[in-house]
Amino acid sequence: MPDQRLTRPRDQIRVLLLEGIHERAERAFRDAGYSSVTRLPDALRGQDLLDAVAETEIIGIRSRTQLTPEVLEAGERLFAIGCFCIGTNQVALEEAARRGVPVFHAPHSNTRSVAELVIGLSVMLMRDVARKSRLAHDGIWRKSAVGSHELRGKTLGIVGYGHIGSQVSILAEAFGLNVIYHDIVPKLTLGNAHPVPSLDELLAGSDIVSLHVPETDSTRGLMAAARFDRMKPGAYLINASRGSVVDVDALAERLKDGRIGGAAVDVFPKEPKSKDEPFVSPLQGIPNVILTPHVGGSTEEAQEAIGKDVAGQLVAYSDSGATTASVNFPQLALAPHDDVHRVLHTHRNRPGVLSAINDLLADRNVNILGQHLQTRGEVGYVVLDVDEVDAEEILPPLRAIDGTIRARVLY
Ligand code: NAI
Repeated sequence: MPDQRLTRPRDQIRVLLLEGIHERAERAFRDAGYSSVTRLPDALRGQDLLDAVAETEIIGIRSRTQLTPEVLEAGERLFAIGCFCIGTNQVALEEAARRGVPVFHAPHSNTRSVAELVIGLSVMLMRDVARKSRLAHDGIWRKSAVGSHELRGKTLGIVGYGHIGSQVSILAEAFGLNVIYHDIVPKLTLGNAHPVPSLDELLAGSDIVSLHVPETDSTRGLMAAARFDRMKPGAYLINASRGSVVDVDALAERLKDGRIGGAAVDVFPKEPKSKDEPFVSPLQGIPNVILTPHVGGSTEEAQEAIGKDVAGQLVAYSDSGATTASVNFPQLALAPHDDVHRVLHTHRNRPGVLSAINDLLADRNVNILGQHLQTRGEVGYVVLDVDEVDAEEILPPLRAIDGTIRARVLY
C-alpha cells in the first residue's frame, strides 16, 4: 500500500462483513492494506449486533441485517456502511447521513447476469422449450418443428435502455436479432439498435418484448391489458425488471387465449419473502410460460462482482474520501491525494461552517490547493487538499467547529 496515512492507520480500521459476503470483498480490503477483516456467514441481531457495531469502523451487510437508528447509535466508531446487494432500505439512511456515515451499494454488478438470462429465455421461448420439457418429463415425445423459430432475423423490443437493456441489446445483436428500444430519456445507441419514439410502436414491431425499466409511477402497470393487444399476435414477453410493471392477470388471459405466444417472468407483484412461503401466480400451469424465482441477477459471478465493487467503494471512501457511489451522502468524486494532504469535514449544512474551517487553516498558514464541497439535505461534506498539515494539531480544533459531525485527515 502507498505510505499515505489516514487519521487512523488501516490495520486499526476494523471491517466486519456479515451474511456470507463473497470472499472477494475480504481480499479487496486486505489487498488495500486493511488487515483487520472479520467475515461471518450469518446476519447478527439484537445485542450481538449492537456489541459488534460498537467495535467496528466499516460494516458490510446484505439484506437481512437491520441497521436501525438504535444500531447506528451503538456504532459510535462506524464511519462507512456497505450494502453488498442492490437494496438499501435495511439501513436507516438519513440517520446514517446525520451521523456522517455514507452508505454504499452495488446497483449494477449483476447487469450481465440479467442480460444473459434474458437472451437464454428468448431462445427458450422461441423454441417452446418450457412446454416440450414438461411433456418430456411426463414421458411424451413431442418432436416437431412447428412453432419453433430461430432468433436470427427476428426483432427484439427493449423497454428501458439502461444498464441491463443496453447489455441485452449487444448480446442480442450477436444472435442476429434486430433490436429496437424505447426509453423515456435520450440514450446513446449501441451497435445497430434503433430507438423508437413510443412504447406502442415498439410493441407493434417486436417479436419479443423485454422489459428493463425501474419501478416508478410511470412504469407501474405499464404492461396492462390494452398494451398486450398492441403486440404482434403470438409475440413473446420477458419481464426480469420489477413485478409491478406487468398486470399478470391480464397476461395470463392473453397467454391462455393465444394472443401472446409465451412469456418468461422472473419478477412478480407478490413474491414470497422466504423459501418457506408458497409462491402463487396466475401464470402457473400455462404452457410456454417460464417462471423463475427472481434470479435474473443471482449468479456467483454477480456475487463476486458485488463483493469487489462495494469493498472498492468503501476502500476509496476510507483512503480518499470519495463518495460518488453513496446513496445517502453528498457525492464527491475525488482522485487519490498523491503528494498533498487532505482534510475531510462532514458537518451540518448551515452558514458559517466553511468560513470557520478556512479561517482555521489560514490562521495556521496552511495553503489550500483545492476545495470540494457538496451538500445533501441537512449534511455538508467538504474536502480540502492542502500543502501540508499537522493532523494531530489540526483535528481537535476542526472537530470543535460548531456543526461538525466528523473530521478526518489523510496525509
Ligand atoms: P437503469 O436505471 O440502468 O435503466 C432503466 C432504464 O429505464 C433507464 O434508461 C430509464 O430511463 C428507463 N425508463 C424509466 N422509465 C421508463 C418508461 N416509463 N419507459 C421506458 N423507459 C423507461 O436500470 P437497470 O440496472 O438496467 O435495471 C432495470 C430493471 O431491472 C430495474 O427494475 C431493476 O430493479 C431490475 N433488476 C432485476 C434483477 C433481477 O434479478 N431480475 C436484477 C437487477 C435489476
